[in-house]
Amino acid sequence: MTPAALREALARVAAVPLVGAPTPLEAVPRLSTLLGGGPRLLVKRDDAIAFGFGGHKVRKLAFVAAAALAERADTLITAGGVQSNHARVTAAAAARLGLRAVLVVNGVEPERRTANALLDALLGAEIDYVAAPADRGPRMLEIADRLRREGRRPYVIPVGASTPLGALGYVAAMLELLDQLPAAPDAIVHASSSGGTQAGLVAAARLLGLPLRIVGVSADQPAAMLQADVRAIVSGIGELLKASPEQVERGAAIDVDDRFVGDGYGIPTPASREAIELAARTEALFLDPTYTAKAMAGLIALVRQGRLTDRQTVVFWHTGGQVGLFT
Ligand SMILES: Cc1ncc(COP(=O)(O)O)c(C=O)c1O
Repeated sequence: MTPAALREALARVAAVPLVGAPTPLEAVPRLSTLLGGGPRLLVKRDDAIAFGFGGHKVRKLAFVAAAALAERADTLITAGGVQSNHARVTAAAAARLGLRAVLVVNGVEPERRTANALLDALLGAEIDYVAAPADRGPRMLEIADRLRREGRRPYVIPVGASTPLGALGYVAAMLELLDQLPAAPDAIVHASSSGGTQAGLVAAARLLGLPLRIVGVSADQPAAMLQADVRAIVSGIGELLKASPEQVERGAAIDVDDRFVGDGYGIPTPASREAIELAARTEALFLDPTYTAKAMAGLIALVRQGRLTDRQTVVFWHTGGQVGLFT
């Protein structure tokens, strides 16, 4: 498929213009020098999306919120942790579109709201606390039922908006990146968790026949589980865009690196702390402790191990989350 054909296929799916201008693609020469050379490193700055404190969830919500509007929804319901970036962006999208937001979050109500929890409250979202992640799905459905009985029109968005529809945000993002470069990069490295971002990038690369490597550095899940999630979303994207299973190479390998999770989701590691400091001190680039710091730790390790060579161009896709520095 050509980029023009992919653009046309995407244009048939409604999206709300939340993302605005293309995000910057920046060279990071001081970081490269500090790492002792290696590939040409570029950073795709989705942390710099202006809407709602930015981050990659804005790209997903652009498609998902459009579907909610098409169904004449009046309330977006979603779920996440107390400090979920996805929940914050959903609340922001709801505010911008004149909808209500209900966020089902696992954890205890914080005594003092900080970071994303503070923004959720400012955005006017209703917060519903549940004890465990497994309780979130059933509670969202319960709330949706209650709202329907009250005559409202709820729209439930699964955790991370990592549905094929949400992942279209990253199919579009790949086209945006390709427009910023004379040739496709050799590799993209980014943080991966519920799989939507990676699925969008992988699906776009396959549909366009690009041989680039897309490394999802896991923030929490073991590689095999995350690979299965990404694979399922890639298939769904193929169906949404009416591509054949061969075009999206259904079932083919997905590159996930789970060696940087450490003791678990959101728990810093020596390598993630180093990544946060190096990026800030060399390039004034702020990484978040839960996702992008671990992804950058993965990229730093690949460079130091000489697994990415000086002939290659590598894009670190900054997926945002920097609000998390203020918890
Ligand atoms: C800042 C940030 N980066 C990356 C991810 C992972 O993206 P995905 O859930 O699409 O795998 C998340 C998920 O919430 C995130 O908040």
